[in-house]
Amino acid sequence: MHILKTEKLPRHLAIIMDGNGRWAKARMLRRIVGHRKGVETVRMIVEECSLLGISCLTLFAFSAENWLRPKTEVQALMMLLKKYIKMEVPRMMQNNIRFNVIGNREELPSDVNRVVDDAIAKTAGNSGMILTLALSYGARQEIVRAATIMAADMASGKISATEVSESLFAGYLYTADMPEPDFLIRTSGEMRISNFLLWQLAYTELYFTDINWPDFGKRELHKALCDYQDRERRFGRTSDQLQARG
Ligand code: FPP
Repeated sequence: MHILKTEKLPRHLAIIMDGNGRWAKARMLRRIVGHRKGVETVRMIVEECSLLGISCLTLFAFSAENWLRPKTEVQALMMLLKKYIKMEVPRMMQNNIRFNVIGNREELPSDVNRVVDDAIAKTAGNSGMILTLALSYGARQEIVRAATIMAADMASGKISATEVSESLFAGYLYTADMPEPDFLIRTSGEMRISNFLLWQLAYTELYFTDINWPDFGKRELHKALCDYQDRERRFGRTSDQLQARG
């Protein structure tokens, strides 16, 4: 196992969980079997991140573009999500995890929205890790939504054009109350962002692994986090400047 330093963990870890379909195909199984196996990975990674003391974990579970998949796969994914959220609430309570969802919830089936609301309400008082599922989420859509609400606030006189700044705008995003991700992991060898958290990832450290999501275990998580710990985040400054600041 890779040796992690507890003091230099990302505060916010974001993950693009990819490769469920390929994992299944390689075993001559149906895609849904890969998604089911992917849920087991989700359970394990959520628990491990919470034990490690990571403050925010954001998982890309269903993109705005995923609605274009075959109807049977979309239905199966919605069923899996509903089952997972419902089943995990007691464990979230045990682990002091607060549940959260970002994305266009209006597009989700009403039964999924009901379990989402229930999990958010039940875990609202928890003070440990915030687990966010991105559901029906697209970053461009999020940015357009934020700009639309901001424009309405301007039209109604709630804010003025001179007040507009990066931080004011960020307050209109779904992630308004969260720190920006420090670290992004994408599994299955694809090296893309795929419309995930475009604004928030501006200074995030990126990590890509060939492992498919169903095979991404504790060992791989620790390996990725060790890689993060070896990086120097400069935010546009020089190495010497950072050392001088201590
Ligand atoms: C990518 O695999 C995965 C997804 C479409 C979403 C991830 C969903 C899960 C892990 C299951 C449900 C999630 C939760 C939080 C319970 P892919 O189908 O794109 O794989 P492929 O690129 O190999 O086809």
